[in-house]
Amino acid sequence: MPVPKAELHIHIEGTLEPELAFALAARNGAELPFDSVAQLRDAYRFEDLQSFLDLYYRLTDVLRTEQDFAELAEAYLARAGAEGVRHAEIFFDPQAHTGRGVPFSTVIEGLSKGLHDSAQRYGISTGLILCFLRDQSAESAMETLRAAEPYLDRIIAVGLDSAEVGHPPAKFAAVYQRARELGLRAVAHAGEEGPPHYVAEALDVLRVERIDHGIRVLEDPALVERLVRERIPLTVCPFSNVRLRVVDQLADHPLRRMLELGLVATVNSDDPAYFGGYVHENFDGVRDALGLSADQLRTLARNSFEAAFLDAPTRTRYLEELAAYQF
Ligand code: ADE
Ligand code: ZN
Repeated sequence: MPVPKAELHIHIEGTLEPELAFALAARNGAELPFDSVAQLRDAYRFEDLQSFLDLYYRLTDVLRTEQDFAELAEAYLARAGAEGVRHAEIFFDPQAHTGRGVPFSTVIEGLSKGLHDSAQRYGISTGLILCFLRDQSAESAMETLRAAEPYLDRIIAVGLDSAEVGHPPAKFAAVYQRARELGLRAVAHAGEEGPPHYVAEALDVLRVERIDHGIRVLEDPALVERLVRERIPLTVCPFSNVRLRVVDQLADHPLRRMLELGLVATVNSDDPAYFGGYVHENFDGVRDALGLSADQLRTLARNSFEAAFLDAPTRTRYLEELAAYQF
């Protein structure tokens, strides 16, 4: 039985498996620039974040109807449930869809339908995190937030993703301020490919409560000390870091060092359809490649529940289940 855990860094568009991409393309009459599932899978070799994003955005073209988004979400939940995920905070990228003519309402209604009853059907509590694409304008982000206003009861937080370098967090200061006024929590990708000072800027200017990735903080010991002192969680994605060449191989991943430094690190899958595994494969991968102890694995799972946007009784219930788990 896999360890109970929360998944806090998962892009729903990044769970689009090639088989589902082809099925949706056929249903919607969408063109895919690949002849077969095997040929598509073969294209999953990336130079860096941008080369991945190019394919990721290209494949969103198959997602067109509420039903498509609902099936995408359900397929993820079925996998996650089998992997011990008890709680998932799921990113979605509305601008990747509105930009090609799919209304915001279609995206959110479809995802909501897919997530509805997830606790009963899959044993997973869920929340949606609306991500802004940082390589688009702040005005476009603000417009997206406005489109989300009728659906705020379905959204727990805002996030920031897409191409990082050259798009510092401060560009989105006003959007995050508005999101906070609307009662949303805040996270941001920072320190994945971008420099460590983007992490500090996300904390100071955007006032985020968690950092997504954040592995480049290790280049700045004073920043590490701050994150340890303030117990800022980092949603680390080991397979992603290898596939996007942030680290050379899993054995070189700094996750173990992060734990030893006292950082509140968690393990997540990012875009599992593209990076070779879901969250449990990431756990097993780092356990084997880095020789993590049972105590360290328990810390990673505990951090995931402590870093989640959960109410106190639910968090306690999950932590008690984890405490009873035998590694
Ligand atoms: N969008 C989907 N996956 C991403 C990642 N790893 N970094 C930035 N944006 C993303
Ligand atoms: Zn991500």
